Amino acid sequence: MEKADVLIIGSGVAALQLAKRLHDDMNVIIITKSFIANGNSNLAQGGVAAAIGEQDHPDRHFTDTLEAGRFHNDRKIVREVTRAAPGLIEELWTEGCQFDTDAKGRLLLGMEGAHSEQRIVHGGGDATGRRLMEHLAPIAASTCTVIENMYIFDLIKDFNGRCIGAKGKSTDGTITTYYAVHVVLATGGCGRLYSHTSNAETVTGDGIALAYKAGAEIADMEFIQFHPTLLYLNGQTHGLISEAVRGDGGRLVTDAGEPIMDGIHPLGDLAPRHVVAQTIYDYLSKGTQVYLDVSAIKNFNQRFPTITALCEKNHVDWRRRIPVAPGSHFLMGGVKTDLAGRTSIKGLYAIGETACTGLHGANRLASNSLLEGLFMGKKLAEQIMESIVEDERQDVHSFTGTRAEQPVEKQEEVHWFTRTNQRECRLPDIKEIQQTMMDHVGIVRSEEGLFTQKQWLEKFQINDLLQADMGFFTFEEMTRAFMLMTSRLITEGAWKRTESRGGHFRSDYPCENNNLWLGKHIIHKRNEID
Ligand code: SIN
Repeated sequence: MEKADVLIIGSGVAALQLAKRLHDDMNVIIITKSFIANGNSNLAQGGVAAAIGEQDHPDRHFTDTLEAGRFHNDRKIVREVTRAAPGLIEELWTEGCQFDTDAKGRLLLGMEGAHSEQRIVHGGGDATGRRLMEHLAPIAASTCTVIENMYIFDLIKDFNGRCIGAKGKSTDGTITTYYAVHVVLATGGCGRLYSHTSNAETVTGDGIALAYKAGAEIADMEFIQFHPTLLYLNGQTHGLISEAVRGDGGRLVTDAGEPIMDGIHPLGDLAPRHVVAQTIYDYLSKGTQVYLDVSAIKNFNQRFPTITALCEKNHVDWRRRIPVAPGSHFLMGGVKTDLAGRTSIKGLYAIGETACTGLHGANRLASNSLLEGLFMGKKLAEQIMESIVEDERQDVHSFTGTRAEQPVEKQEEVHWFTRTNQRECRLPDIKEIQQTMMDHVGIVRSEEGLFTQKQWLEKFQINDLLQADMGFFTFEEMTRAFMLMTSRLITEGAWKRTESRGGHFRSDYPCENNNLWLGKHIIHKRNEID
């Protein structure tokens, strides 16, 4: 058994920003199922959006975010984040984080889809996420305990419904219980639920499934962003080709060299992602390959070293044109939180892509995700430090045995989940989940496809799986179980939302419908899915 003031599950930018901002005297544990840099943050290419250009203003960033999000956003958080963005960049810059600059030492600002201004702060050309991780990880590691290769499979609640910890299994099979005053989910989204994705292999919806299992509210799961341009060879995607490439003059063309975005949207190649992804999908469905023509970009390999290396590794000539296809990139929904990262369960928080704060609405504006991680990590740290009042500490610490002499057995009795011990659970193959999600709950959805996926998911008795003691599972079985649970939430949301909006497109309801009976957000809570 381990105890902490703050237990952070996940180790991306949001997690590390939170860790960095907590007081040094707090006992903070960061847990990751893999190793610290093996997540999406490290892969992020584009950058961090911030209205710092001379012609720019946070109000314009605000408007662009709402427009991309198809006005499904929570305006309050959009306002706060867009106003805070320049200050967050300045803070990192002052601390020595290496962003790209011009010869005069001024920050270089890139352009990306659906932005009305150049406002993308980047580092290492197209390696902004890695730069941020390299900056934040040592700071966090110097003040926190970092535990790698530990898979959290359950959250623990007390009799009052407060989250007081989590259970993890290590690669050697040891199970450890962690008790904490504050438990934070920062495990990223769920890109790996799809066969075509830009996401790291670790991103399998774990935090969302954990929160759902524990009874927290989950929102907007139908809104999945498909990034238009992943490197595409022999029917497989092989990693991200940043939108910044189109921002610097890359054009989407057919085999015959015809531009595909002309006449589709006033912003052409830089239209919002869902528009570009759906257009490419149409071409691919009709058997026409789409390419990103980069011949007009000067010094491509210097501006985009990560993409150049990706192309070279896959024997693609980046000097001419790069074959592309859309793939799952970002989850706009997630564990529902307020502006301070609080979920519907006391003591449990969610930040970064795991959370649904309402910032992104139905479709995230490019480079607003690292920004959200930075903003929410800081905001939650402030919230936690304000809320650490002595009586709260006493409550949990007496429960966990710090101050009172409670025997360990007694604590175990309050484990919230029904134990079913070694109940047999049928779990599909990871590839099967990814393929069925891509086919039926992918870029274009329909009642028929969603019904097929609902029926397929039902075969795996997810309600039983939610009761199972996953401590008996292997790492891979945990992943498969979390993927199934999260897939069901996406499928249910997509089934219920009988309209198209942002990242959710239904061929049978192709228009936005502001008068839908279902209200603005589709919320999932355990026991509410039949
Ligand atoms: C990209 O570089 O295109 C991805 C950045 C983002 O998702 O915001």
